[in-house]
Amino acid sequence: MNTKLEGKVALVTGGTSGIGLASAQEFAAQGARVFVTGRRQQELDAAVEAIGHGAAGIRGDVAKLDDLDRVYAEIREQAGHLDILFANAGGGDMKPLGEIDEEHFDRIFGSNVRGLVFTVQKALPLLREDSSVILTGSTVQDTGTASFSIYSASKAAVRNLARSWALDLAPRRIRVNVLSPGPVLTPGLTGLAPAGQEEGLLAYLATQVPIGRLGKPEEIAKVAAFLASSDSSFMNGSAVYADGGAAQV
Ligand SMILES: NC(=O)c1ccc[n+]([C@@H]2O[C@H](COP(=O)([O-])OP(=O)(O)OC[C@H]3O[C@@H](n4cnc5c(N)ncnc54)[C@H](OP(=O)(O)O)[C@@H]3O)[C@@H](O)[C@H]2O)c1
Repeated sequence: MNTKLEGKVALVTGGTSGIGLASAQEFAAQGARVFVTGRRQQELDAAVEAIGHGAAGIRGDVAKLDDLDRVYAEIREQAGHLDILFANAGGGDMKPLGEIDEEHFDRIFGSNVRGLVFTVQKALPLLREDSSVILTGSTVQDTGTASFSIYSASKAAVRNLARSWALDLAPRRIRVNVLSPGPVLTPGLTGLAPAGQEEGLLAYLATQVPIGRLGKPEEIAKVAAFLASSDSSFMNGSAVYADGGAAQV
């Protein structure tokens, strides 16, 4: 049994579905005490049950600073500190230039950038020395994708934040890395397709991956656990791609 995260306290934002849920399960299986967040109570309750190992769910929207304060107050009360922060909550949808409106921009940047910034900043008082902070990027942080500019730009921002934060947090020996998945079969990915066109989108995306298929959330979770553990102790400010080669060729 792998117990590399034994004794660690972890928060996974957006830990109720897809990549976040699989990572929370992997962290817990490796011995961590896990907190997860998400906005929907029913999904949160189901995730806590699926994760097991004494995991706890705290409802919260990363785009709302009051929610973040409440999440961290609860973690402080229940666990006292954090060793692992996986700032993963986020998502996006597609709109071509010409159709981008304020709602689209504010919603995507509100969660993926503003929400992630304050998720990390507000965690600082709880993070111990030698903690690991993981930010969910995406292969689109480096590439262009038609009708996906706002989401892609939000992930480019995430990738760059890690570079400066590695410096800001150096005095406390807190490492910050970006985990950049390619297309992974999750509700978030399927939700990009118009109703009825899900299978077509997923089949097309699989053709864009040299490995010839979409990723599974568990495959991203293994990389998240590596970044969370001391196995990655000399990695800092990096982007780690788990993409079947999609953005590497
Ligand atoms: N799947 C992919 O192909 C892929 C590829 C690259 C990067 N990513 C990134 O991976 C991360 C997870 O995506 P996923 O594919 O696993 O999607 P998912 O299955 O839709 O899961 C998203 C999770 O984030 C939560 N969430 C979303 N917005 C939130 C907010 N404002 N505050 C708190 N929680 C929020 C969701 O719960 P609630 O809706 O209940 O809040 C859910 O738990 C995202 O950052 C996404 O951009 C995904």
